[in-house]
Amino acid sequence: MIRCVDVHKSYAAPGAAGGARVDALRGVNLSLGGAGFSAIMGASGSGKSTLLHLLAALDTPDRGEIEIGGVRVDRLGERDLTRFRGREIGVVFQQFNLLPTMTAAENVELPGILAGQPAGASRKRALEVLDALGMSPRAGHRPEALSGGEQQRVAIARALFFSPKVLLADEPTGALDSRNSAALLALLDRLAAERGMAIVMVTHEPAAAAHCRCVHVLHDGRITGRIETEGLDAAGVATRYQQLGRTA
Ligand SMILES: Nc1ncnc2c1ncn2[C@@H]1O[C@H](COP(=O)(O)OP(=O)(O)OP(=O)(O)O)[C@@H](O)[C@H]1O
Ligand SMILES: [Mg+2]
Repeated sequence: MIRCVDVHKSYAAPGAAGGARVDALRGVNLSLGGAGFSAIMGASGSGKSTLLHLLAALDTPDRGEIEIGGVRVDRLGERDLTRFRGREIGVVFQQFNLLPTMTAAENVELPGILAGQPAGASRKRALEVLDALGMSPRAGHRPEALSGGEQQRVAIARALFFSPKVLLADEPTGALDSRNSAALLALLDRLAAERGMAIVMVTHEPAAAAHCRCVHVLHDGRITGRIETEGLDAAGVATRYQQLGRTA
């Protein structure tokens, strides 16, 4: 469902003269099959967010191919990209990115409103998704009146508004305590199984990665290996991860 071939991305180095660049991704090759919950794990600065932004079609690679659900996103024009982003891929971030002046329901219906759908239908869909995530009783609450775990569930509900086949999550448990983290990871696992979605989470936490079936290790802008987590706990994942980093 997701395929990257030799994906490169560099940024202008901040403040550097003479056109110096930071190579964030240096030839990423990655293939993720169909439905399921998988992780991309790497140290700070290894290129996780850069890769996630490219997969979410929020940015374009310098070179290389990115294919999602049979669509070559690196070849889409701006208009097709905008459509693709909203409907085919959902994205969730570490800091939830909810609008503080809007209620949970208003945040979740926003993708529909922005896409020009009737207000009534958008609200109905928003309440449906909130209900599926056990958030109906909080639909009228603003983010400040929600716990971190609840805010993240609202952010996931918003990402599910158009029933995307792919959900990308950038450190979704990074701002949560361990109990809320575990609940959120269980929820993502359930969504992948029940809805047949491909859910890809980037993380640097072995405990979060251990919830996924498969972990792809990103090291200095390249995928250096893959860990099948069956039978491994967080410590087991951490050990395998360190081995893959060393041999890179
Ligand atoms: N907009 C930018 N301009 C310049 N350099 C950038 C930019 N975004 C990222 N980088 C650099 O690219 C590299 C990869 O960054 P990225 O944010 O993808 O890492 P990450 O793995 O997500 O790290 P973290 O775990 O800290 O979130 C880093 O060296 C970073 O400094
Ligand atoms: Mg990051």
